[in-house]
Amino acid sequence: MRRPFVVGNWKMNTDSHSSVTLAKAVASGPLEIAGHSVDVAVIPPFVYLQAVAGALSASSIAVGAQDIYYEQKGAFTGEISASMLKDIGCSYVLCGHSERRHVIGESDELINKKVTAAINGGLLPIFCVGEMLEEREASRTSEVVRGQIKNGLAGLSVEKVSAVTMAYEPVWAIGTGLTATPQQAQEVHALIRKQLGEMYDSKLAEEICILYGGSAKPGNASDLMAEQDIDGLLVGGASLNADDFVAIIKAAT
Ligand code: PGA
Repeated sequence: MRRPFVVGNWKMNTDSHSSVTLAKAVASGPLEIAGHSVDVAVIPPFVYLQAVAGALSASSIAVGAQDIYYEQKGAFTGEISASMLKDIGCSYVLCGHSERRHVIGESDELINKKVTAAINGGLLPIFCVGEMLEEREASRTSEVVRGQIKNGLAGLSVEKVSAVTMAYEPVWAIGTGLTATPQQAQEVHALIRKQLGEMYDSKLAEEICILYGGSAKPGNASDLMAEQDIDGLLVGGASLNADDFVAIIKAAT
């Protein structure tokens, strides 16, 4: 049985005060969040990670980072390693988020190095894939998503990939207010599971958690979660409001 998992990606938002306030407000939400029926994580900006991890230390809410560098240490100005993230209480890290792919320009090859470094460093990567609007319109969704998975997980054994949470985030639905219909999302989630079955084995495909992301909100969370292969939600904008985020967590239980 796959446990529901709801993740709040705060992106480049909040400040030293509001990050802690938001974390505490989420932690004081309903009992479901106490880890009984749903896993929850929040992903603040790097500079507030430690404060947020501290504010959540008595709760069951995990903390993740928005990025990682693949080297262990050394002369890599501005970068953050897996061991640094572990050191301050991080469990998860986003890899391959569409904003890093398409705004910052990260390649599949770089993303593969980051996923690998995260796993080898004891972190749990949330590995995002998803097509752009023109790719969907050209009926290339399957080809694009399959390519991202194949390249992003290249060289990783089934044991290593079992540490991965997948996230399907159609680029055209992120931050746009447009949400994939539950059927559109389900179709790609099933394809992701099928591909992982082909690359690894049916046990991994059956057990791996696949999140949907892209304008997830209280009003569409339960319809999305009702789909067979949607195991959780990666929430951007709506995770910045504690009431909305808690409502989404409730919808996922
Ligand atoms: P959104 O972002 O919910 O604001 O669309 C989702 C994401 O980018 O993870």
